[in-house]
Amino acid sequence: MSSEIKDLSLSPSGEHKIEWVRKNCPLLRSLEEEFSAAKPFAGVRVALSIHLEAKTAYLCKVLAAGGAEMFITGSNPLSTQDDVAAALVSSGLNVFAWYDSTPEEYERHISMVLENDCNIIIDDGGDLVTTLHSKFPEKIKYVIGGCEETTTGIIRLIAMANKGTLQFPMVLVNNADCKHLFDNRYGTGQSVFDGINRTTNLIVAGKVVVVAGYGWCGKGVAMRAKGLGAQVVVTEIDPIKAIEAVMDGFDVMPMKEAAKVGDFFITVTGCAGVIDEEDFKQMKNGAILCNAGHFDVEIDMKRLREIALSKAEQRKNIMGYQMSEDVWIYVLAEGRLVNLAAGDGHPAEIMDMSFAIQALSAKYLVEHKGRLTEKLISVPKEVDLEVAKRKLSFLGKQLDHLTDAQVEYLNSSAI
Ligand SMILES: NC(=O)c1ccc[n+]([C@@H]2O[C@H](COP(=O)([O-])OP(=O)(O)OC[C@H]3O[C@@H](n4cnc5c(N)ncnc54)[C@H](O)[C@@H]3O)[C@@H](O)[C@H]2O)c1
Repeated sequence: MSSEIKDLSLSPSGEHKIEWVRKNCPLLRSLEEEFSAAKPFAGVRVALSIHLEAKTAYLCKVLAAGGAEMFITGSNPLSTQDDVAAALVSSGLNVFAWYDSTPEEYERHISMVLENDCNIIIDDGGDLVTTLHSKFPEKIKYVIGGCEETTTGIIRLIAMANKGTLQFPMVLVNNADCKHLFDNRYGTGQSVFDGINRTTNLIVAGKVVVVAGYGWCGKGVAMRAKGLGAQVVVTEIDPIKAIEAVMDGFDVMPMKEAAKVGDFFITVTGCAGVIDEEDFKQMKNGAILCNAGHFDVEIDMKRLREIALSKAEQRKNIMGYQMSEDVWIYVLAEGRLVNLAAGDGHPAEIMDMSFAIQALSAKYLVEHKGRLTEKLISVPKEVDLEVAKRKLSFLGKQLDHLTDAQVEYLNSSAI
């Protein structure tokens, strides 16, 4: 067993957090029970890079209960929780991660995971897969396949597949209905405001909240901003999404206009340079900026640091940048995912579904070893439905069923 973490003595606090998650994740608990008996991952080495907090830790424990040997790192330098990492090491899992790692440390930890001849790659944003292809091509022969958690990682995988460079099958977990419909929308919606509220301790009601991107995450963020009493402005590049935002009751305008009126700015596009120098210079004194997209490129932090007259930390995770004599703007969590770098991420019940999809997709890969010809694989419909059915039953809700007459009616027009 090998690991590189901050402080093993933090383990009791991490164990408490994981236990709370376990209590609130009935789907994963049911899989843990099944995996413990059937051992679907016996002899399988799993490399995992997902935001290393308590929900992810529980997923790791569920896979380990199924017989997997786990090699774990985080997927963002600011989202790793050191006590959770310590708890996993205490349970006998291999962890290479710590909070606030430098870019060099972050890359070293990814490499330390990949040195272990892993068979399944569970990725969040694509750092494991791209590093494996670029730095460890000789290790690809051990890989059965992998699973990608988020939209940005899928964009990177599609680019690799189009170039013909992707060497093994990857399951697009984010695209499962039980993932993006709930995790991206309700999970991001709630946890982004949890991060903003606990970090700023400021009111949202009556303010103008600018949401950049009206995809699954943006819809959730805008919905929760409205619920908190904000006036919501959406910026979009897709005309259909923009109409959706208008019909959902929001104002739509380009960022160049929104920059002048916003009190809070939340980017969640997966794109780079969404808020740039021209926008910073238009902003009101006191504007608060944060990002919920995967990479810290949506707010042009490099340029902001260059043009600021001075900067000063205001509170933990709030950095002020002086734009002129009397205008300061504030950035949360250095422009990294605000819900994870300045919060605990999505609610446990949401990750229960996302990680059940991850666990069942990994099992699917093992069961279909050597038989998958496509490189980009959709989550099998039966996996999505199985997760939905179990979730519904844990919610205490029941489905209706078609009668024979209804089945006959629905098929009656078939030629
Ligand atoms: N914070 C989290 O916990 C969390 C959770 C899930 C996904 N994500 C990340 O959030 C990002 C968005 O994910 P999604 O699932 O909502 O993606 P999505 O593809 O559903 O939506 C992205 C939207 O942004 C729009 N967009 C792209 N470039 C833009 C620009 N320059 N200006 C304005 N709008 C622009 C697109 O038209 C699209 O409607 C990704 O990076 C994803 O990986 C974060």
